[in-house]
Amino acid sequence: MMFYVLNGSPRKNHNTAKILNSAMEGIRSVLPDAEFKWIHVYDYSYSGCVSCYGCKRIGGTYYGRCAKRDSISGLLEEISQGDGLLIGSPVFFHDLPGQLRAFLERLLYPYLVYGQVYTSIALKRFPVAFFYTMNATEEKMKQMLYPVKLSAMEEYAEIVFSRPEIFYCYDTCQFDNYKLYKADRFSEKEKLHIRREQFPKDCLKAAAIGKEIARKAICQNPTASESPDRT
Ligand SMILES: Cc1cc2nc3c(=O)[nH]c(=O)nc-3n(C[C@H](O)[C@H](O)[C@H](O)COP(=O)(O)O)c2cc1C
Repeated sequence: MMFYVLNGSPRKNHNTAKILNSAMEGIRSVLPDAEFKWIHVYDYSYSGCVSCYGCKRIGGTYYGRCAKRDSISGLLEEISQGDGLLIGSPVFFHDLPGQLRAFLERLLYPYLVYGQVYTSIALKRFPVAFFYTMNATEEKMKQMLYPVKLSAMEEYAEIVFSRPEIFYCYDTCQFDNYKLYKADRFSEKEKLHIRREQFPKDCLKAAAIGKEIARKAICQNPTASESPDRT
């Protein structure tokens, strides 16, 4: 089985990537032969949807596929044939980072059918999970309505692929050394405490979601999960 791991953070080894890594290990614990392809979206040069509507043009070459050709065209088609998708997103200004949002516009929109109700013409339905990391505490993020603000992309992912699992990792440590940065609103002591005490627990929760993704992937494609006979 092939799982795609979409890292929406510009940083390849910080909070979001670590949470994604734990989720990946969760999948691996259920499916030891699973394969993973990481996509660090900031490694690619592309734009979001350009409203060419090639994907909606009846009888057109690109009906149901993103017509814009650039560095992610191949990836979009690969993901749509995969067995599961993990999406990691730091929260930027109460939302997904622009680069990740642009990627998801291109991934989801071509499969969305403008019928009386939205339906999907994705090649496969597979399990999806969103992992958000943020500075805000749980209390603050609820006050600021992050779950509502973040839900739009989740809803489209549900229509196109399947109802996503959602995980929020709060109060992340943004800098390795707070003394080097202007960040008076945060207490370095508290942030380091959370990194030491809470973050490992968050990684375990992300791993549990990974296991759930693996179980769903097996239900959707039972034969693909069988280990190859190595005798
Ligand atoms: C441009 C920018 C905007 C941010 N905006 C928010 C925000 O609105 N709310 C929040 O809780 N954290 C915000 N953060 C903090 C990050 O979401 C948080 O530190 C995240 O865990 C970083 O992920 P990373 O360690 O994978 O880079 C912002 C960070 C950056 C760089």
